[in-house]
Amino acid sequence: MGRLVVVSNRVPAAQGRLQSAGGLAVALRAALKEGSCLWFGWSGRQVAGHDGYDPEVSLDEVGNVTYATIDLTHAEYDGFYQKYSNGILWPLCHYRAGLMNYDRKDQKIYQDVNALFARKLLPLLQPGDRIWIHDYHLFPLGQALRDLGVTAPIGFFLHIPFPPWSLMRALPHADGLLRTMQAYDVIGVQTEDDARNMNDGFSIVGVEAKARVFPIGIDPENFAKQAEEGLTHPDVKKLKESLSGKPFIIGVDRLDYSKGLLARFKGYETFLARYPEHRGKVDYLQVAPVSRGNVPEYRALRRDLDEAAGRINGTYGTYDWTPIRYLTHPVPRALLASFYRLADVALVTPLRDGMNLVAKEYVAAQDKADPGVLILSHFAGAAPEMESALMVNPHDADEIADALHKALTMPAGERRARWDLLEPDVWRVTAVTWAYNFITALSEARPA
Ligand code: G6P
Repeated sequence: MGRLVVVSNRVPAAQGRLQSAGGLAVALRAALKEGSCLWFGWSGRQVAGHDGYDPEVSLDEVGNVTYATIDLTHAEYDGFYQKYSNGILWPLCHYRAGLMNYDRKDQKIYQDVNALFARKLLPLLQPGDRIWIHDYHLFPLGQALRDLGVTAPIGFFLHIPFPPWSLMRALPHADGLLRTMQAYDVIGVQTEDDARNMNDGFSIVGVEAKARVFPIGIDPENFAKQAEEGLTHPDVKKLKESLSGKPFIIGVDRLDYSKGLLARFKGYETFLARYPEHRGKVDYLQVAPVSRGNVPEYRALRRDLDEAAGRINGTYGTYDWTPIRYLTHPVPRALLASFYRLADVALVTPLRDGMNLVAKEYVAAQDKADPGVLILSHFAGAAPEMESALMVNPHDADEIADALHKALTMPAGERRARWDLLEPDVWRVTAVTWAYNFITALSEARPA
């Protein structure tokens, strides 16, 4: 069996940023435990650069994976990562065309960085390699590799949603971007909606409609074990003591407008206003590590959340109770697993999300004799698989408030019945089955 070559913008192990990694890095790390693998991407570093600057590839071997990374110049980081990927494609793919700040010159930098990735990857390729490209930063990379003569199987997986064509076409040259995707042998997305939307787009621009659904999962065995073992960790004990037996609500999300944090805070505020019996008798921890902090919309969101948390704590707090414990820095994953285990309720209420692995992690972390309640948005990619959760419309503060009350007063029998329906899928659709199914489809589509 030849090597698997993974390409993504983030290459987490090479950056020592495992703790705060998003869904992509978490799932891939779980999936790449076996076989020989090359993982290529950005080093996470920015350098000054100059005319004719050509980055060197640094290689770093960890177990069965060789990490190959390049630095980006400040201008590339700004145009490719901050502006085009996260200021244009991210909002658009999350159905927020109004937040998109389009500028043609960023599109040029995006294309150039994709061409640079292709040029730097080319000499590292070996006969028999299968190439698997990840996420919106790298839509045109397959075509850039084909332009250099690469004939290996190339697959692409989109971790975030794909909107209907009527929205996508707000992106200037969206048709051209979709056409470059002809280069892929297999295209994977998270949900049926994403596949339908992308295939509709393909058929409009005249490309074979080959998007298929490969829902991503977690490593449930490992996560459940961490959740259990971590209970003896001093920090987990400290958290438990600080709750003094009160029911505990948890939310964990990158600080991103797609996660619905502001609406969630409003939902919690409405809950405290409408159900005064819970005031002082419940604890809510929201972990929201700052993400993409130099993109203006993210900076504005942070200000709004700081203000909302301050207002809620100021209004409903007492000298011995803080309504929201709000952190904008990451909590180590090993601790989070046990935090989920302690939590009676998880609030996962994105306005739009590719999959959302927190929902699956929360389920995996529960004690089956006494599981907690998952409150889940209809607009998470995980929603179709997890309808036994308490489903909410994340835009409706009253619905979130009612769901919180219902979760906190739910009889143990109903909690167990709901969890019993959620748990099997979390074990059936894992990071490993996701990667296996995708790679098998890729090998079938074009043998290496
Ligand atoms: C999402 C995206 C990933 C991205 C992660 C973290 O999960 O799908 O591609 O890596 O967010 O965002 P960042 O901008 O820090 O890489």
